[in-house]
Amino acid sequence: MVSPTGAERRVYVVTGAGGQLGRALAEEFAADGVVALTRADWDVEQPPPAGLGQPNAVLHAAAWTNVDGAEDDPQGAAAVNVGGTANVAGLGAPLVYYSTDYVFEGGKSEPYVESDGPNPQSAYGRTKLHGEAAAGERAWIVRSSWLFGPTGTNFVRTMLRLGEERDEVAVVDDQRGSPTYVGHLAAATRQVLRLPYGVYHVAAEGDATWADFAEAIFEEAGIGTRVRRITTAELGRPAARPAYSVLRSEKGAPTLPHWREGLRETMAAIRTGAARE
Ligand SMILES: NC(=O)c1ccc[n+]([C@@H]2O[C@H](COP(=O)([O-])OP(=O)(O)OC[C@H]3O[C@@H](n4cnc5c(N)ncnc54)[C@H](OP(=O)(O)O)[C@@H]3O)[C@@H](O)[C@H]2O)c1
Repeated sequence: MVSPTGAERRVYVVTGAGGQLGRALAEEFAADGVVALTRADWDVEQPPPAGLGQPNAVLHAAAWTNVDGAEDDPQGAAAVNVGGTANVAGLGAPLVYYSTDYVFEGGKSEPYVESDGPNPQSAYGRTKLHGEAAAGERAWIVRSSWLFGPTGTNFVRTMLRLGEERDEVAVVDDQRGSPTYVGHLAAATRQVLRLPYGVYHVAAEGDATWADFAEAIFEEAGIGTRVRRITTAELGRPAARPAYSVLRSEKGAPTLPHWREGLRETMAAIRTGAARE
């Protein structure tokens, strides 16, 4: 595509543009040519819609992200995360596939790097790992973790809601990861596009347990709710999660700001009403 100045304009397709990362990507790439497709525009279980053309890259943020729900319906999750990714790769453009720390077992006590072998413990993690393979050869596999932002379903928004309703919340204190702000991940995607195809770990600096994260959320929001630290076993969710899943890169992937900085940006966006839902 050629712009009015004659310079070649880059065009990006974003899938899952109604999700928290999809929205952040659509904003980040808005100055380029961006075709932001929600599920209503392209259900990735179907082949690409006619007339999409050949973008410079597809930023594939559409996914089945209900981790516990995938235990009940692993085939439904695979249809989106594996079959859907194959359909997106079928467009023939290079693609960024967003993957997850849940591809790892979680038994390490130091960060997982790209050469560590995956061993997912949940149906969701298995579908995301198979999705990495379905992305094909011309793909950047960007593994990130514990995503949050001002819109959609995420831990920050859940805690803010619970904080308004309760004096105390019980939060898991034996899972450690790097909560990552979707705005930072979207910005880093630009740098990833300059790297060779391959797997990259891109997560926020710093790490925390969910209980640490909850306390920080209440502190930033000025909410007095107490956090009662509990175990994963006490919470009793259907899907197993890694006890430790901090991601770092040994391959020169972009580094992100600290999660606390991402939390401040999210809170600022919520306060200024940038979050519309
Ligand atoms: N959330 C995390 O903590 C986390 C951590 C690591 C990696 N990731 C990965 O990062 C990516 C983005 O996650 P997110 O947190 O932004 O998830 P999200 O907010 O749940 O967004 C996912 C989007 O995909 C859409 N979608 C679901 N099935 C679809 C289909 N068949 N066709 C088209 N769109 C479909 C959803 O639409 P509906 O709302 O209509 O279902 C939603 O808008 C995913 O690949 C996820 O696996 C997420």
